[in-house]
Amino acid sequence: MNRKFFYIANWKMYATFTQTIDLITKNHDDFLKLSQHPNTKIVLCPSALAYYPLATVFKESTIEIGAQDCSDHHQGAFTGQISASDIKAVGCTYCIIGHSERRRFNGETNATIAQKLTQLIDANITPIICIGETEEQNKQGKTLTTLEQQLAECFAIIKKSETKLENTSILIAYEPVWAIGSGIIPSNEHLETVFAWLSQHTLKVAPSIVWTLIYGGSVTELNAQQIKKINHLEGFLIGGASLDFQEFEKIVKCN
Ligand code: PGA
Repeated sequence: MNRKFFYIANWKMYATFTQTIDLITKNHDDFLKLSQHPNTKIVLCPSALAYYPLATVFKESTIEIGAQDCSDHHQGAFTGQISASDIKAVGCTYCIIGHSERRRFNGETNATIAQKLTQLIDANITPIICIGETEEQNKQGKTLTTLEQQLAECFAIIKKSETKLENTSILIAYEPVWAIGSGIIPSNEHLETVFAWLSQHTLKVAPSIVWTLIYGGSVTELNAQQIKKINHLEGFLIGGASLDFQEFEKIVKCN
C-alpha cells in the first residue's frame, strides 16, 4: 500500500486572522497545486477564527483543516472553550491534542488529553496526539518511558473501544520538547529508535487502528530530506517553517 506522507502545518498563534487570510489568498492556487504532488496529504491548522474560512475555501480540494486544540468537555459552562463537535461543524477534520505548549502553558495533563481524545472520537475527527520528552528526560535516558507514560491514558481509551474504532485513523506526533522552535534536530539514530518503538507499541496496543507516526520539531527545508528517511515515519508536524509557502513547498517536494 502506498500511503500518503502527511504535511501538517501548525500555525500556532504566529499569524493574525488577517495575515492568515492574506497568506491563503496569495497562495491559494499554489496550495492546490502542491496538494496534487504525489503521495502528499496537506493539513492546515490555523488559529481558531480561521477554521471556517479555510475549510470553506478548500472544501472541494484534498487539503484538510485541523484544529490546534479542542475542549475536553462536550458542552456546558466552559467559557472560552471550543467543543470537538463545533470544530467538526465548521469543517475541521483533524485536531492536534497534547501539544507540549499546551501541556506547559495551560497545565494540560495526560488525563485531560485523554478526555479530549474521547471528544474527538465521538465527533469523528482524526486526532493528532502529540508526545515528547524534555531535554532533561532525554539526557537521563528517559525518552521511551516518558512517551509510554504520555500515551498510557489515551491508549486505555482506544483499547476499551477498539472494536468500534476498527480502521479509524489516529496520528501520533513525536515532538521532543527540546527540538520545538529551537533549530535542534534529534540524530537519525535517536529518531530510528523512537519510531521503531512507537511502531511496535502502537500495533501491540491496538492492531486494528490505522496508525500514522509523524515527527515535529524544527523541520525545515534543510533537514526534511534527511528526516524523511526514518523508518516508520509518515509525516511532519511543521510549525515556524510552514508559514512561508515557498519553504513549505520545498519541504513537501524534497526527496
Ligand atoms: P516548529 O514547531 O516546527 O516551529 O519547531 C513544531 C510544533 O510545535 O508543532
